[in-house]
Amino acid sequence: MADLTGKVALVTGAASGIGAASALAFAAAGARVAACDRDLAGAEATAKLIGEAGGEAMAVAVDVTDADQTQAMVDRVVAAFGRLDCAHNNAGITGSSAPTGEYPLSEWDKVLAVNLTGVFLCLRAELPALVAGGGGAVVNTASFSGLVAVPRIPAYVASKHGVVGLTKAAAVEYGRKGVRVNAVCPGSTRTPMVEGFSGGDSRVEEAMAAASPMRRLAEPEEIARTVVWLCSDEASFVNGHSLAVDGGAVIQ
Ligand SMILES: NC(=O)c1ccc[n+]([C@@H]2O[C@H](COP(=O)([O-])OP(=O)(O)OC[C@H]3O[C@@H](n4cnc5c(N)ncnc54)[C@H](O)[C@@H]3O)[C@@H](O)[C@H]2O)c1
Repeated sequence: MADLTGKVALVTGAASGIGAASALAFAAAGARVAACDRDLAGAEATAKLIGEAGGEAMAVAVDVTDADQTQAMVDRVVAAFGRLDCAHNNAGITGSSAPTGEYPLSEWDKVLAVNLTGVFLCLRAELPALVAGGGGAVVNTASFSGLVAVPRIPAYVASKHGVVGLTKAAAVEYGRKGVRVNAVCPGSTRTPMVEGFSGGDSRVEEAMAAASPMRRLAEPEEIARTVVWLCSDEASFVNGHSLAVDGGAVIQ
């Protein structure tokens, strides 16, 4: 069991789905948690759940596409909790669906801004704080779409492959400074994002489940436990890795 007692963890996209589960899992492992999201009410709800479970959390409003806001987010967390040890850069969107030749530029820009530039801006603010505190660990949320292609979501696929590359770039630079940087690549996970994608149609969910050798979707807590493990000393020599948490979907 990962032990993060005394550590401070920051999670983006913490209002919902995987990020909310991750914030709760960090708290369950003993960390004080900053639940960060552009949906402040949702982040506050996650922080409240942590408080009710006996943990300590704060909520921070942030749009990860804005450099000033990501820097202010890290500054606020360090001011409130005194340090930063773990970061889960997880906020993301899917964007609309169309073949690459017909994909709207505006949609491309929007998806890349959140999923790739957003992770970069978070890293840029977090890495100096992690180094200043003597080291730490980052996990970026990529996707199985960061390892293989999925049709009709080219911006999402490109952004998530970019997250895998950015994870490697930061890992080779910061390993010597005591900061490990890894990514998780979830398969289809039961969250509002997937519910929005399926539109409540159970056949879409069945098709997603059928794409996994385990014949089911992941639960957000299964991704969250992997994130916490990657941030813990249990994973002390794992660096630059993009770990598929997909029931084996990408190996088929
Ligand atoms: N659910 C899946 O099947 C699945 C699979 C692979 C990867 N992922 C990735 O996991 C991450 C979390 O997805 P989820 O399924 O929990 O989705 P979700 O929609 O439930 O949660 C995403 C959260 O990100 C926040 N967010 C979006 N844009 C933001 C911005 N600009 N600034 C700050 N916060 C912002 C939203 O408010 C929301 O709370 C995403 O990066 C997603 O791409 C999800």
